[in-house]
Amino acid sequence: MRKYRERTLEPLAGDDEPLLATEPRAPDAIDRLIERHGAETICSVLAPLLTAERMARIDVVLAARLGTVIPVVEDVYEPHNGAAVIRSAEALGLQELHVIETGVRFQAARGVTRGCHRWMDLQRWRDPAPCVAALQARGFVVLATTPHSAIPLEQVDVSRPVAVMFGNEHAGLPAATIAACDGAVALPMFGFTESYNLSVSAALVTSQLAARRRAHLGRVGDLDPARIAHLRARWYALKVRGAVGVVERTVSRQTRAGVAPEPQSP
Ligand SMILES: C[S@@+](CC[C@H](N)C(=O)[O-])C[C@H]1O[C@@H](n2cnc3c(N)ncnc32)[C@H](O)[C@@H]1O
Repeated sequence: MRKYRERTLEPLAGDDEPLLATEPRAPDAIDRLIERHGAETICSVLAPLLTAERMARIDVVLAARLGTVIPVVEDVYEPHNGAAVIRSAEALGLQELHVIETGVRFQAARGVTRGCHRWMDLQRWRDPAPCVAALQARGFVVLATTPHSAIPLEQVDVSRPVAVMFGNEHAGLPAATIAACDGAVALPMFGFTESYNLSVSAALVTSQLAARRRAHLGRVGDLDPARIAHLRARWYALKVRGAVGVVERTVSRQTRAGVAPEPQSP
């Protein structure tokens, strides 16, 4: 059987601190840099090291980022499915992916993600209940997906932020996870096959919900200005090798010279 190179997503961008397994993503070195110096300073220091095309591309992607449709996967076995879920979510412009690792450590095949996980906020949870509760507390309707639901995806109300949970390749979502959700929906099936592949269903469901949510909002992206500014600084830093050191050295040189770093207009 062919062997694939795989890796866990444990060190996300920033890459110097393991994620907490039970909590949302811990701030990494880049987040702390932004916290210390502010997003505008980071951008002003790093902008000269990026091409105009790269910065323009970042702004185009940021403007289309959708924070109010969130996929959640539980106990994914297959690294290629994990990677495909990330890749589709990023390509659709979704900003968050939540991963529940009740019994299986989430892995993503590197050749499939092609690094796209770095642009997303990936949050890990050890149990489904706190993940569901945290999303509900943020105003999300949390829906399970299962081929056994009588409620078709088309009936989902997209006037509220929506998170959709996907089960693993074998058993699907556990009954307790489905019970913790606000409801369960199905993609209609017309053939002899009983269910879609996990990553295929995640792409089908999130692409439909994202399109309907964008139509409902009347715009492509919905991140607030503070989150956009933070992500712009983060993405600039991800694109510059050794960005943390570059910023620290530049800011300390400018501070010694008594020059305030010039804010950069986006
Ligand atoms: C391969 S399926 C798991 C099938 C499992 N035997 C079951 O009965 O749920 C993996 C996941 O894809 C999603 N899925 C697959 N087909 C679906 C459908 N027709 N409607 C909704 N979700 C589906 C669900 O999240 C499911 O847990």
